[in-house]
Order: sequence, then C-alpha cells, then structure tokens
Amino acid sequence: MQISQTSLQSKFPVMSDSCRTEDDARAAFQSCKSPDPKDRVQFYDSWAENYEKDHSLMSYRAPDLAVNLLCDQFSGSPEEVLVLDVACGSGWVAKLMVERGFKHFMGVDGSKAMLELAAETGLYQDLRLALLGTEPLPAQTGMFDVVIIVGALDAGFVPVSVVRELCAAAKPGGFVCMARGDHRGKPVDGYKQDLELQLQLMEEEGLWSPAGLRQTDRYMEDPHLDRERVEDVQPEERYISGTAYLYKKASH
Ligand SMILES: C[S@@+](CC[C@H](N)C(=O)[O-])C[C@H]1O[C@@H](n2cnc3c(N)ncnc32)[C@H](O)[C@@H]1O
Repeated sequence: MQISQTSLQSKFPVMSDSCRTEDDARAAFQSCKSPDPKDRVQFYDSWAENYEKDHSLMSYRAPDLAVNLLCDQFSGSPEEVLVLDVACGSGWVAKLMVERGFKHFMGVDGSKAMLELAAETGLYQDLRLALLGTEPLPAQTGMFDVVIIVGALDAGFVPVSVVRELCAAAKPGGFVCMARGDHRGKPVDGYKQDLELQLQLMEEEGLWSPAGLRQTDRYMEDPHLDRERVEDVQPEERYISGTAYLYKKASH
C-alpha cells in the first residue's frame, strides 16, 4: 500500500462489538456528521472494523447495484480488465466483481484503516491512500478499462469535481460506473443536482456518453431515520433510493 497521508488519530471512537444490532449501526451512521471530508475519513478509520457488519445490518445494496449495471453492459473478457475502485473502502465492490470474473484491481481510499481491510482481501494489486478533492486521484491517466466509485459521491465525501478525474483515469472507450444513495433524512444539499449537471456537461463536451442508468427504491435502509420511529414507518419509508450511472469514455 502506498501512503501519501497519515491520519489514524481518531476523534470518533466507534465501539467494536461482534454482536452489533441495527440500533448500533444506525447510531454509527448518525454520528458521522462533520461536513469536513478529513473528519469523515477519520470517522471511517474508527468505523472500519464494524463497517461491513453495520452496512449489512442496514441492507446496503449499493455495490450490487453498480456491479450489476456494469456487468449487464460489459461485453469484453473481465479477466483481462484493469479496474480502478475509487473509495474502495473494505473491498466490497472488488469482492463482488471477482465473482463476475474480474481479476485486476487498484484501490484508492482516504481511510488507512479501510485500506488495510481492502488489503486483507488479497484482491488488490495496488492500494493508495488519498483524500480526494484535496489530493489528486493517484492514478495514471487513460490507464483503466473500468473506473468504479460506490457510496462516496456525496456532500462531505468525494466532491463532484472528482468525476472529471475518474473520467481521465479511464482508457478511451472504458467505463466509468458511479453509484450513490439519496439521503432523504439529510438536509437538501444539492449534491445530486450538481452531480447530474456535471455528468451532462461532460457528455456535451464529448468526453463520454451515457451507457446505462439504474435506480432502486431500496439502496439501503435510511440510516438517518429516527431510531424510535423505525418500527412504525411503512416499508417504503424505511429505505432510501439510489442511482447507478454508467458512462463510456469517448474513444478518441
Ligand atoms: C460508504 S463507504 C463505501 C466503500 C465501498 N465503495 C463500498 O461500497 O463498500 C465510503 C468510503 O469513501 C471513503 N471516502 C469518503 N470521502 C473520501 C474522500 N474525500 N477521499 C477518499 N476517500 C473518501 C471512506 O473512507 C469510505 O471508505
């Protein structure tokens, strides 16, 4: 793992517990509030060991949404493809892609502890630490057949401007796949509108063309739902929606 920034001193201790409940998971999501991306990745450092457990408890389906969309449109030989997994976290996306035949992964994340989990999967040939939006995407231009980012395009996480760096990292004719949730409980921050505007602008500039779009009403359970209200709400209110976007980079 190449490390360009170290920040393991966490201000946000999350208790490790092998018998975590949905309540614990919700409490962890709700304590991740700072608008500062540096604080957010420090939060992930402290959350890392419970990350997958808590996300499973909240029925997190974002990696499936993105990987299914990509695989439905992808027609090459997956074993020959080089994948850049941006905000790779613990390696959930690569674990799913391996089941579909992909073999070559490079991962980037701002959290050292999450990268350590990704390293434990043994699936990544290269892992890099970088706080995106502040530091440049540590990836060679025009190198990757597939660039994928799941669960990190959000206010306080990876800024919209990084989407251009994702496109730059893809090979001509390569795919960029992005999945994100609509966090209903949070104040409206305009992130989704800004993102979709940027995607469209890049299309108008001839950088890429849309290759697929998939929406779901059940991206994950709404982590910001009041813990006391969870049992009372209708199933459709219990989940947040989400979207996966797939773009094909121009071949010239
Ligand atoms: C919800 S997790 C998603 C992880 C993985 N893609 C998945 O779907 O399981 C968000 C990840 O984004 C990373 N992240 C958030 N903001 C970031 C930033 N500005 N730069 C780099 N990584 C960031 C966090 O450290 C965390 O690992």
